[in-house]
Amino acid sequence: MAYTVYEDAEHGDAHLSDQDFRRLSDWIYANIGVCMGPEKKTLMEGRVKKRMRHLKIPSFRKYCEFVFSKQGKGEEAPFLIDAVTTNKTDFFREPAHFEYLNRTVLPRLAGREGSGSRNTFRIWSAACSTGEEPYTLAMILQEFVDGTSGWDYTILATDISRTVLEKAGQAVYQDETVGAIPFPLRKKYLLKSRDPRNSNVRIVPELRAKVQLRRLNLIADAFDISGEMDVIFCRNVMIYFDRVTQEKLVRKFYQHLSSGGYLFIGHAESLSNLKTPFIYMAPTIYRKDD
Ligand SMILES: C[S@@+](CC[C@H](N)C(=O)[O-])C[C@H]1O[C@@H](n2cnc3c(N)ncnc32)[C@H](O)[C@@H]1O
Repeated sequence: MAYTVYEDAEHGDAHLSDQDFRRLSDWIYANIGVCMGPEKKTLMEGRVKKRMRHLKIPSFRKYCEFVFSKQGKGEEAPFLIDAVTTNKTDFFREPAHFEYLNRTVLPRLAGREGSGSRNTFRIWSAACSTGEEPYTLAMILQEFVDGTSGWDYTILATDISRTVLEKAGQAVYQDETVGAIPFPLRKKYLLKSRDPRNSNVRIVPELRAKVQLRRLNLIADAFDISGEMDVIFCRNVMIYFDRVTQEKLVRKFYQHLSSGGYLFIGHAESLSNLKTPFIYMAPTIYRKDD
């Protein structure tokens, strides 16, 4: 008796074939630089299955056909990217970074020679996810400039995913996610809903106005960013890139930093295996020579 691929009525073929997994992971790598080795197959399967259910597509094979069709390439690509990327983030994630920024980086940048000609800190949160990182930066910067006359700041927050950028733009968060924000900052920079049944909070308009959100692909050959950044936070995304992509990205960051500017990377990331001109300052904190 001849057998063929098992399909159940509800979910179609139960597993993503190695061939389809390779097609999808090659596409992800080519388009956003995220490496999905064979160990990520189960994860991809689970996440793609949710999309299939939503689209009522009965099998992985048919989903792949759709993704790589003319229509699917345009329509489904953002959803596939959302499905396979990790957006985990938090307010004051890796708090030592914000401490170092506040105590060491900002005073040093403010006292930098020649800084008289420019008195605006330019900060970039690259791969900002749903906004917790850039709004944490905004709180730190706002506190600093309030106590340092003549200084202002701007924050550029970018990500590949339109979904997370939309959430970042709304700046609405569940109350239980803001516990890491020190209470005085919570009081100053968060708004509560007027509806007592709604426990969500929102970032105040003054901080929201300081954060410019934009879609930007970190693996693009060049970034459409004018002027030099003083500080770049690029945390917990390089870990998904291979060495070649990391090295290329770090070189681009170097070009976009002012001399004496800083690069912060994630706690599980390091530049030590990469060829870069950055100077090591503290764990996961680097500086461009001035
Ligand atoms: C784990 S989150 C990190 C958020 C934040 N930086 C933090 O450390 O809390 C990783 C983010 O990287 C974004 N991302 C993945 N590949 C990207 C790419 N090629 N260009 C820009 N952003 C990318 C994802 O959409 C996701 O929001």
